[in-house]
Amino acid sequence: MSIDSTWLRCPNCFLDLSPIDDRVFGCGSGHRFDRSKHGYLTLLPPGAPRTIGDDPEMLRARAELLGSGAYAPISDALVEAVRSVAKDAPGSPFPGGSGSSLRIADLGCGTGHYSAELARALPELQFLLADRSPDAVRASLRALGDATGIVLDIWRPLPLRTDSVDIILNVFAPRNLEEFARVIRPGGSILSVVPTERHLQELRRDGLVLDIPSGKSSRLIEQLGDAGLTLHSTAAVEYSLQSDAATRLRLAEMGPSAHHVETLALHAAGARVNIEPLDPVTVSVELLSITHVTPT
Ligand SMILES: C[S@@+](CC[C@H](N)C(=O)[O-])C[C@H]1O[C@@H](n2cnc3c(N)ncnc32)[C@H](O)[C@@H]1O
Repeated sequence: MSIDSTWLRCPNCFLDLSPIDDRVFGCGSGHRFDRSKHGYLTLLPPGAPRTIGDDPEMLRARAELLGSGAYAPISDALVEAVRSVAKDAPGSPFPGGSGSSLRIADLGCGTGHYSAELARALPELQFLLADRSPDAVRASLRALGDATGIVLDIWRPLPLRTDSVDIILNVFAPRNLEEFARVIRPGGSILSVVPTERHLQELRRDGLVLDIPSGKSSRLIEQLGDAGLTLHSTAAVEYSLQSDAATRLRLAEMGPSAHHVETLALHAAGARVNIEPLDPVTVSVELLSITHVTPT
């Protein structure tokens, strides 16, 4: 596990970070950050709230669900989107490019599942895995040991250098469009996966997951212009997932709803483990490919 500081800037003064010794990174103003024994750096600005992000139980449920292949069509769509973005990028390792690696920042990476799938399909890519949850960054580094792992807060100015990223991956995670626009290089892309109103609708009817606000992707598209971004394309991924009660329980436990749903409802879902097959659950997301507005 190693930290590539060429992605990074100081969360306090925004000067570039570089290695001071084999486990300390620092900036020209004298701010210092220790690499944890698990291999990641915590780059939070002063006064950041201590606990935000997924806890170990949510991460376990998410890892089990994703490991079962339940969301494989989403990772397949991401692989295709990265292939398509990458083949046209300057310096692309793909046909038509010059051979250097593209840099992908997975912001709100969770368990690192989608980056790991991308790395399997397209081994030339370089990854930065970042999340507010140290447990998530730790888990994601287990999935992708070569990556640079950072604990950060997406809602704050990012500790990432301007124009340092080719592709931002942002899957079911918070977005900070102004900062995303700053850190992607001109012509770079943001690949954002956003749930539609139909996503897991059967579980919402059972009270197992929270409501998804309607028009999530259209609101995101409306906000792009203010950040100097533009929508390149959208792709819908929608399918019926055959789900037993254990799968339903994982879907409930892995989301933010895990903090809100009635314990009774979770237990009820657990009690249904032996009743199979249950009705399918709808998985429905939009994959938005977003780029910088090209100046005319
Ligand atoms: C629904 S999970 C999605 C994780 C992963 N992208 C996936 O789809 O498997 C949302 C992730 O965003 C992280 N997160 C929440 N708030 C955050 C913040 N302010 N800054 C960075 N990460 C945050 C959570 O810890 C969690 O890992």
